[in-house]
Amino acid sequence: MRYASVTDRLAGLGGAKWALHARARALKAAGEEIIELTIGEPDVPTPARFIEAAARSMAAGRTGYSNGRGEPGLVAALAARYTARRGREIGRDQIMCLPGTQTVLYAVLRTLVEAGDEVLIGDPMYATYEGLIAQTGALAVPVPLRPEHGFRMQVADVAARITPRSRVLFLNTPHNPTGAVLRAEDIRALGALAQAHDLWILSDEVYEDMVFPNVPFASPLDFPELAERTVVASSISKSHAAPGFRSGWCVGPAEFCARMLPLSETMLFGSQPFIADLTELAVSEPSPVAEGMVQRFSRRAAILAQTLDGVGGLRVHRPEAGMFALVDVRATGLSGEAFASGLLDRQKVAVMPGESFGAGLQGWLRLSLTQPDDRTLEAATRIAAHAASILGNAA
Ligand SMILES: Cc1ncc(COP(=O)(O)O)c(C=O)c1O
Repeated sequence: MRYASVTDRLAGLGGAKWALHARARALKAAGEEIIELTIGEPDVPTPARFIEAAARSMAAGRTGYSNGRGEPGLVAALAARYTARRGREIGRDQIMCLPGTQTVLYAVLRTLVEAGDEVLIGDPMYATYEGLIAQTGALAVPVPLRPEHGFRMQVADVAARITPRSRVLFLNTPHNPTGAVLRAEDIRALGALAQAHDLWILSDEVYEDMVFPNVPFASPLDFPELAERTVVASSISKSHAAPGFRSGWCVGPAEFCARMLPLSETMLFGSQPFIADLTELAVSEPSPVAEGMVQRFSRRAAILAQTLDGVGGLRVHRPEAGMFALVDVRATGLSGEAFASGLLDRQKVAVMPGESFGAGLQGWLRLSLTQPDDRTLEAATRIAAHAASILGNAA
């Protein structure tokens, strides 16, 4: 039978990148003790008050159809939150609510680009971005994010890749997998380039509330001169330990939202009112769990650095935010995939190969910071032992 070409474009871009995680889960199911540092799920359950809010809302009959933009209470709460945080008026007509950042990014890219267009995207990148861009038919143009610049996107690297087909500069700050946070001056320079070449700026800020102490967060929404070309996407998945609720949104120009509305209606015919109600509560007050995660994740990044950095030639890249740390294993002569596969087999530690996040992380590993301190330390010790055994064998 015949299938649409999108199925070819997405082949290998979905679950295939998570093959090692799937193998680790299968080993666990078969009874093996595995330390799992693969995916980035919050290390605490969704706070009870949000679950209770959703249950109350369901019991109160909030189970009917919604609309393609979002429940009015949530839209108003998000407009108020972004107005307060970004220091300028964000109207209700600038908000769209969809099920999670992932769906938001899908719809935003569908609204902005198509075959023949190019999307400038940092490499390394979050594993689903390639597929998100590919589904539109547009071309992903990787912009190298370099360790020597703390993995922060450099304006010269973007400028060198702009063509007449460039349409979108796709940012992710704080960044997964590198944990880099763009500074205001980075965004100002990238924004000036976007203005000069009439590019949209799409910024995935799902880790905004998980910036480590003393690191300043900045968003393109902070810059009024970028208002007409900026779309920001986020959700409660990370900040409120609620990924299973699938509740996200974007903030953009009113005209952009009006253009995206029929797409959202076509995709979803609206989200669930009871999930909108819990999200309204969540975004109207400081997160009860974000600060604790920030403390624990930054502490575990330090544990990894103290235990692993410099051992057997390994290098630990310390994140500025988020749930992950990176380890450079190129000194072992192995790819990230080969190192991670052997580590799972011999040391029962599951980590993500850097290659799952783009060519820029060949020979690296991504470690999640969501295991308790003692397990994180144990994993680091086993990673060091694995590196030593590889180097010993090579000697
Ligand atoms: C950078 C980034 N964007 C988006 C997502 C997906 O978020 P959501 O659960 O809101 O769809 C993730 C999840 O890991 C992520 O790391």
